[in-house]
Amino acid sequence: MADQLTKLAYRTLQQGKALFGVTHKEMSTRLMRLLAPDGSPSMAPLPEGLLGELRHNMDALHERDWLEAEQGLYPASLLFDAPWLDWASRYPLVWLDLPMTWNRRSQRNVRDLPRDIDPKAYPDYYLQNFHHQTDGYLSDHSAALYDLQVEILFNGTAEPMRRRVLAPLLRGLNAFADRPASQIRVLDVATGTGRTLRQLRGALPKAQLVGLDLSTAYLRQANRWLAELPGELPQLVQGNGESMPFADASLQAVTCVFLLHELPAQARQNVLNECFRLLEPGGVLVLADSIQLADSPQFTPVMDNFRRGFHEPYYRDYIGDDIEARLATAGFEAITAETHFMTRVWSARKRARTA
Ligand SMILES: C[S@@+](CC[C@H](N)C(=O)[O-])C[C@H]1O[C@@H](n2cnc3c(N)ncnc32)[C@H](O)[C@@H]1O
Repeated sequence: MADQLTKLAYRTLQQGKALFGVTHKEMSTRLMRLLAPDGSPSMAPLPEGLLGELRHNMDALHERDWLEAEQGLYPASLLFDAPWLDWASRYPLVWLDLPMTWNRRSQRNVRDLPRDIDPKAYPDYYLQNFHHQTDGYLSDHSAALYDLQVEILFNGTAEPMRRRVLAPLLRGLNAFADRPASQIRVLDVATGTGRTLRQLRGALPKAQLVGLDLSTAYLRQANRWLAELPGELPQLVQGNGESMPFADASLQAVTCVFLLHELPAQARQNVLNECFRLLEPGGVLVLADSIQLADSPQFTPVMDNFRRGFHEPYYRDYIGDDIEARLATAGFEAITAETHFMTRVWSARKRARTA
């Protein structure tokens, strides 16, 4: 009975988040057409059948999310985990930020970044306003709004999509089942504001967690979210995923969520090569990112709209990229992939040493 009530509460919450996301986008699009018609992207309307399929896949994502919590892969409390009061207080800022976004969009200005950053400290491909985001990834203002903006963009499914890395990760870590949990070290590459690390902490309460990102502002925000959690504080490291400051074979698992589509092809390969280098033989890599043309051709119009609506310079290349081939090039084996709503999840292993 208690389970049924919790499930009902979870479904109601997700429906509420979806409604909120759809309403916000509808209102902000109308306002943009009225006040900044030059900044309005030309989005193709989606056919009714496709919307129905999207809704069906979203329901399946929530069902899977519930099921895996019920199976004990992670605590059910994670399903409700969000900084509600904080988000509510930041929501007006999302509206206040919109005119700047429209302005950049209409001016096709994608290099509008804070003046005080040192451009030499970052790869050139990073120095852009991804999603037309104010300050790119390079300010506390951007970091303060990011989680809420992503929740709105994905109609409240961002966290269920991130949690899809947990089942393959736990399966992969079975290779180290003979070790004390506290000796398992897991790195989240491009951890951003640390939302994936929160999910990892729920599933692996004793493991050593590390998050790496190029943005110190995002890591500062991550530190705020993560400091609230009981247990060891994850280690947060500023760095480039293409060349990470960790020793060879020093990790048992690596995760990487929503990074690959923001990288040019060579950087994408470099990150996968680095993940391979860092993993101990037997270790597992789990990636989550956007669906692609090959696995979800029916959603091509959705992917096209995403590309048109947001500044995502490498997305077109990403959706046609062969990630399995890249993983194999990096040296990985046992490569598997699955799709959950708008997310593709890959799992791959570094071959264990033979005795
Ligand atoms: C779309 S966000 C995803 C963040 C987080 N994983 C999530 O699930 O919300 C992309 C993140 O990748 C980081 N990033 C982009 N290029 C990077 C690179 N070469 N090395 C490390 N982090 C990078 C950005 O700073 C940003 O935090």
